[in-house]
Amino acid sequence: MDLLQVIKQMPAQIREAVQFANGLSFDAQIDNIVFAGMGGSGIPADILITLLSDSASVPMVSCKGYTIPSFVGPKTLFIGISYSGNTEETTTCAKAAHKRGAKLLFVTSGGRLKNLAYETQAKVIAVPPGLPPRAAVAYFVFPLLIALHNNRLAKIDPLDIKLALEALEKPQWEEKARAVADQLRGVTPIIYASEGYGPIALRWKQQFNENAKIHAFANAFPELNHNELMAYAQRPGDFHILLLRDERDPQHMHRRIDVTKEFIRRAGIPVTELMLKGQSRLTKAFTALFLGDLTSYFVAKTRGVDVLDVGLIEELKRRL
Ligand code: PA5
Repeated sequence: MDLLQVIKQMPAQIREAVQFANGLSFDAQIDNIVFAGMGGSGIPADILITLLSDSASVPMVSCKGYTIPSFVGPKTLFIGISYSGNTEETTTCAKAAHKRGAKLLFVTSGGRLKNLAYETQAKVIAVPPGLPPRAAVAYFVFPLLIALHNNRLAKIDPLDIKLALEALEKPQWEEKARAVADQLRGVTPIIYASEGYGPIALRWKQQFNENAKIHAFANAFPELNHNELMAYAQRPGDFHILLLRDERDPQHMHRRIDVTKEFIRRAGIPVTELMLKGQSRLTKAFTALFLGDLTSYFVAKTRGVDVLDVGLIEELKRRL
């Protein structure tokens, strides 16, 4: 499998994925939504929660571990996401949510979660099998966006999806990603994002980890200004800062980012700014995510590592 080709299929995946939630309805009252998922199947929940923060009609939380919150009950919509369907933490949460009487929706390509769906009569969004989980992010996010919208649990303008697709289909991304990757030779990337894009910075980090096999760190404004900033009081090491900033950030955010950038450069650390453009947060989030996925691929190539290998993650799962 050529991961570059798979990453480049993201617009096609989105077109396919928007059909996956057709007819999916939750007829009973829902007071809160709890997501569970790990790694490549955990980040979709973080992205959804942030994207829908100003339109969600109920609170949404994401669980990345073995436990679900104490408030989970019959009026909870529990959304378990696992590409393989076999992730121990996610299946454990799903069973616990079932015991508490939550409504269940699983997003998976098969495995134990699919079997659990038969046993518990959970609803299922089936995603196509055969991909690395991290390459299925569009298959997770878009059907859920639509399902939540159709069930009045959040709002998404269909025009935003169309505009996001158009932006992703522009030819510039691969070249841009190669240029960013070139700047990251031999350094550890630190990704900082404007408020509202923290999960996208985290996605960049995770893709650098899994695809390029390097450490990477992520944080978001304004929180990083209250702690991580102090690391620039000295020259902190061989880092390269990637700043994901929204061209439509409010003035106070631009000011904050500009001053931070000045402090980082003063500490001798290079900064590359990536200005997110577009009419909606969906476009900005997904073009930034796409650029990050491509960049991690090219960093992997410059390091000569196998971009698909996740052997240590698999070995750990086997040994549990
Ligand atoms: O990208 C990966 O391979 C991992 O981060 C997996 O997504 C993670 O281990 C969870 O597995 P799954 O997505 O099958 O639930």
